Amino acid sequence: MGFFSKDIKSLDDLFVHTLRDIYYAEKQIRDALPDMIEKATNPMLKQGFQKHLEETKGHIARVEEVFRMHGVSAKEVDCPAIDGILEEAHEVAGEVDDKQVLDAALIAAAQAVEHYEMTRYGTLVEWAKQLGRADCASVLKQNLDEEKATDRKLTELAESKVNLAAAE
Ligand SMILES: [Fe+2]
Ligand SMILES: [Fe+2]
Repeated sequence: MGFFSKDIKSLDDLFVHTLRDIYYAEKQIRDALPDMIEKATNPMLKQGFQKHLEETKGHIARVEEVFRMHGVSAKEVDCPAIDGILEEAHEVAGEVDDKQVLDAALIAAAQAVEHYEMTRYGTLVEWAKQLGRADCASVLKQNLDEEKATDRKLTELAESKVNLAAAE
């Protein structure tokens, strides 16, 4: 669905397009997390990334469920935004030598990812409601809530441990 081909004519089209965008993004995140798990030093951070990898697989399954519920095919559309966020995370991580500083960099990168997901799911939930699909909204809301919880846990870990260790 190109930007200039005007394939998006209605809010419903836009909803489906955005669902395909987050579908692509979630798969990219699933593929990027193993590397982040490997690079993390703090055991709580490592474990947190591991848990979120499992949650991310669940997010993909829920998005597929919404495609089914809405009667459209589960397709991906390129999402240059998540590609950029993940590419930058990869570059920065490659430039950090100190393991504690690397943990701080990984949290910062992960929070950029979570915030991207939160903005997409926040929008999708509202559009689903507007389209009379409260059923789809409630499935998408479950993903939104898990992204928010992950973001909060990352903040806690950064503030209580990782940033202190990185500053030493
Ligand atoms: Fe997710
Ligand atoms: Fe996430």
